[in-house]
Amino acid sequence: MSTEPQVEGTLSVTDSRTGKTYEFPISEGTIRATDLRQIKVSDDDFGLMTYDPAFMNTASCRSAITYLDGDVGVLRYRGYAIEQLAAKSTFLEVSWLLIHGELPSATELAGFQAQIAERMTVEAEIGESISAYAKDAHPMGILEAGFGHLSTLYPEAKQIDSAPERMDAVINTIAKMPTIGGLAYRHNQGKDAVAPDPSLGYCENILKMFFGADYEPDPRLVRALDILLILHADHEQNCSTSAVRSVGSSQTDTYSAVAAGIAALYGPLHGGANEAVLVMLREIGSADNVAAFMDKVQKREALLMGFGHRVYKNYDPRATIIKKACDDVFEVTGVNPLLEVAVALEATALQNDFFIQRKLYPNVDFYSGLIYEALGIPAEMFTVMFAIGRAPGWVAQWLEMIQDKEQKISRPRQIYIGSAERDYVEVSAR
Ligand code: CMC
Repeated sequence: MSTEPQVEGTLSVTDSRTGKTYEFPISEGTIRATDLRQIKVSDDDFGLMTYDPAFMNTASCRSAITYLDGDVGVLRYRGYAIEQLAAKSTFLEVSWLLIHGELPSATELAGFQAQIAERMTVEAEIGESISAYAKDAHPMGILEAGFGHLSTLYPEAKQIDSAPERMDAVINTIAKMPTIGGLAYRHNQGKDAVAPDPSLGYCENILKMFFGADYEPDPRLVRALDILLILHADHEQNCSTSAVRSVGSSQTDTYSAVAAGIAALYGPLHGGANEAVLVMLREIGSADNVAAFMDKVQKREALLMGFGHRVYKNYDPRATIIKKACDDVFEVTGVNPLLEVAVALEATALQNDFFIQRKLYPNVDFYSGLIYEALGIPAEMFTVMFAIGRAPGWVAQWLEMIQDKEQKISRPRQIYIGSAERDYVEVSAR
């Protein structure tokens, strides 16, 4: 952790049950939840707890990785604005930045790129196990299982106190995520696997592993993919990252913790939203049907997927960059006809009172699917693309958590609302 918290002031709390007043330090705009335990009605009272079922107002860690101001739409990785990184950096450079805290030197970057390229190959067992899945198995399910499989192939990753072992697992995670995704994709397509080529860049390799060794991607499409991955690389304590931290806090190995992140990302309220957006746009079909769909949303019969965010109460800065990247991609591929539906939906939503009052704006998933589709990637693979992008964030956050002396096993409290003690009744008497 970079800085020790400084006390900024105190909070005085009077408990009306006892008339006692308590003084709690405030630092970093926060009070320590455990301080509240001093507030008791008797000596054997457990002490006051907070109730926060969806972590709406609870900081679960101190982190030096990503800064997000959702009211104004600011996102920075290690202090660098997402707009600058998307314009000037590459996904692997950003991965290094997230993991190590600083931009790499030219030598460090070259070494990291070579290491990732070399580690992209996965063990034959993984390919064999993927071939046993049903042809229509969802690739996110396969990816999740693939990381469980990696945990069995790299038992040394359990040595989480060893810095070299930790870094090995971190590099493997970034390197092997697209390869397992590619194997899942080729399996779904009924096609033979394409091995990664260590002489190629990361994004070029992804496209070749998906579309075949003969596929020659346009460099503008490769760059668009690189930008998409940068935009997804970290987003502080989102659902999947919290899952990685929470599961990792039991001191399980990196691959198992990442598998938990993949599982969380799969859900339609999180990473699965990009796939759900495409399904929604197809169902709406044309800009003429937008008004009818918005009626359904207001009647709460549907969600406008790709809109709204727990933290952003303004335009998601990633959505702005993706919208611009759409233009660059469509210049190469021709315009996706669903873009017209998406643009009409966005314009209508931004003028609609339901959305204005709730501060609902397009999020990262609203336009990303249109680019993936233009690249030729089918909707079922969109969340896999998100996982490839989020891999460096997951491992950077895991590394930070594992080395943070304040972190213990993640274990929330509950408010018990069930039956009081009662006697067991034999089945014959029920
Ligand atoms: N369409 C219609 N209404 C919405 C939407 C939406 N997309 N999002 C939120 N609302 C409404 C919601 O019904 C609620 O209304 P009310 O207060 O009257 O009950 C209000 O806005 C606040 O929403 P919430 O669900 O309480 O907010 P949350 O912070 O718990 O949920 C969210 C955030 C992202 C899950 C939610 O906005 C949502 O379901 N969006 C659609 C799915 C989506 O696009 N997810 C991707 C999120 S960004 C990338 C990622 O995390 O993977």
